[in-house]
Amino acid sequence: MKVAIYAGSFDPLTLGHLDIIKRSLNIVDKLIIGVGENVRKKYLFTVQERINMINLSLKDHSNQNFEIKAFNGLLVDFANTENASFIVRGIRGVTDFDYEFQMGMANQDLNSNIETLFLLPKRDYIFISSSTVKEISYFKKDISKYVPVPVLEAFNKKFNE
Ligand code: PNS
Repeated sequence: MKVAIYAGSFDPLTLGHLDIIKRSLNIVDKLIIGVGENVRKKYLFTVQERINMINLSLKDHSNQNFEIKAFNGLLVDFANTENASFIVRGIRGVTDFDYEFQMGMANQDLNSNIETLFLLPKRDYIFISSSTVKEISYFKKDISKYVPVPVLEAFNKKFNE
């Protein structure tokens, strides 16, 4: 069984992340979506809020084999615990490549049994990042083109209620 990890902060999940999740689900037998919980990082949404947003955004995919789990520590250790042999990473362009290459190489060095799979998102999403979404939302502009509906609702709940 081909098990893969797709990990990230997902603070928040974007349409780009969702696109990579859907592509991964078409490739692997089981996808573990790992939501980073790094105590040294400051997040806008709690880990439970981020997990809920991903869960709601994938409600039309409930027939597919995925789990959403919080994780901290090294990604390769999380992959090992979950019996995953693949780490999926999305690459939006050359600016992502340097960081992804370094992380992929470090992960290969830490555990050579785990392969990194790089996937490309739909062209429409290549400029979207969680940071740009937060920046646009901070200045009260519409983010509905960049995030799934449950994420939009979570922003409205947090900032407009
Ligand atoms: O969405 P992000 O913030 O790019 O997610 C990055 C994440 C959580 C996947 C990455 O920071 C990570 O894997 N952190 C765990 C530590 C680790 O294993 N680092 C790579 C080897 S040095």
